[in-house]
Amino acid sequence: MAIDIDAFLSTSARSMRRSLIRELLKLTSRGGIISFAGGFPDPATFPVRELEEVTRDVLTGQAHLALQYTITEGDPRLRDELARWMAKDGIRATQENVLITNGSQQGLDIVARVFLDPGDVIIVELPSYMGGLQAFRAYRVEMVGVPQDDQGIRTDRLAETLAHLAGEGRRPKFIYAVPDFQNPSGVTWTEERRQETLRLAGQYNTLVVEDNPYREIRFEGSAPPPIYALDQGERTVYLSTFSKTLCPGLRIGWMAAREDVIGQFVTAKQGMDLCSPAFTQAIAAEMCARDILYRRLPQITAVYRAKRDAMLRALEREMPEGVTWTHPEGGLFLWVRLPETMDTEALLQEAVEAENVAYVIGSGFFADGSGRHTMRLNFSFPSEKEIDEGIRRLARLVRRHLPVAVSSIRRRTTVSD
Ligand SMILES: Cc1ncc(COP(=O)(O)O)c(C=O)c1O
Repeated sequence: MAIDIDAFLSTSARSMRRSLIRELLKLTSRGGIISFAGGFPDPATFPVRELEEVTRDVLTGQAHLALQYTITEGDPRLRDELARWMAKDGIRATQENVLITNGSQQGLDIVARVFLDPGDVIIVELPSYMGGLQAFRAYRVEMVGVPQDDQGIRTDRLAETLAHLAGEGRRPKFIYAVPDFQNPSGVTWTEERRQETLRLAGQYNTLVVEDNPYREIRFEGSAPPPIYALDQGERTVYLSTFSKTLCPGLRIGWMAAREDVIGQFVTAKQGMDLCSPAFTQAIAAEMCARDILYRRLPQITAVYRAKRDAMLRALEREMPEGVTWTHPEGGLFLWVRLPETMDTEALLQEAVEAENVAYVIGSGFFADGSGRHTMRLNFSFPSEKEIDEGIRRLARLVRRHLPVAVSSIRRRTTVSD
């Protein structure tokens, strides 16, 4: 007879929730579905030919190193390259400030492992990256949400929240920020919001965890500095990745922080996996040294800009009054708000079964379970033709369920938040 595994589970394992995104991806592998649900880059952007060449050269010239264990901190050459890469954004770092991770998702787990005890408080945006929430939840912490608007986290509400917590004698361990083209909303924080967040973090003596995988995917406008560059890592930890600029299959991410903080992260990572693969690190270092990353960025952003534009045009054309969406200046995602009485979770099954279209329900991104009328749409993976057709299907579904009061409003409302 099979034993009951539940009786063996740790409290942490019981508190883990399987990611809604992963569950959805299974559902949408069916043929004929147009999926806006994943967060996959477009495979047409993968540097296949360059990787072929670089991999051959790495195996010819450095196999004795590339196929060996490496140090936990990561390939020194790659860390050097990354320090140089981040300098273009005003981040002052040497290889001693950099730790290589298996994607930035591992960085989130390392941050949690090093800083969080059960019962600790952290601040997250409403909405925030689901994979971050999932990583932190495993450490049985309390996540306190602060709303966002079109300029980023609402720092007035952040100030209120921090004051309220201080009144209860509680100090959040960190503020989790995705300040550039946020997953899920596509919103970018203004420089003022970044400065004010740092000021508040200083006033209430908490840290900032800046998770920034989309920074390079900018279509227009000018880039505010990373939060890390504003305090040079004094109380900020920076996470980034090659997943959106080279390919996620390499699983190369990195963390930047003060040397003493990196030391703590290294100890935590040692117990997880000893080191990230030397092979993919050697390949990534070579890709950087040959400037391949830098040279390919304009092509990649052009692909995603065209897809974003296709989605914005389709939404404008198809969606009824009362539905609003964000206009991201970069990244891979766009955020849609239906009238507040509507529930995207209740509509999902019909979307998939009757309309062959999928999205991610918004509430999964809200630590407090709100946002039931919202959804996240990914525009990087589907083709422009699929975007057109998929939005048509989605709009048909929305129109079928639109509350009478809203469907009678004549005014068209699209906002740029
Ligand atoms: C905000 C954010 N952080 C981290 C990650 C994880 O990326 P990686 O592939 O580097 O693990 C993602 C992936 O989509 C993301 O959107």
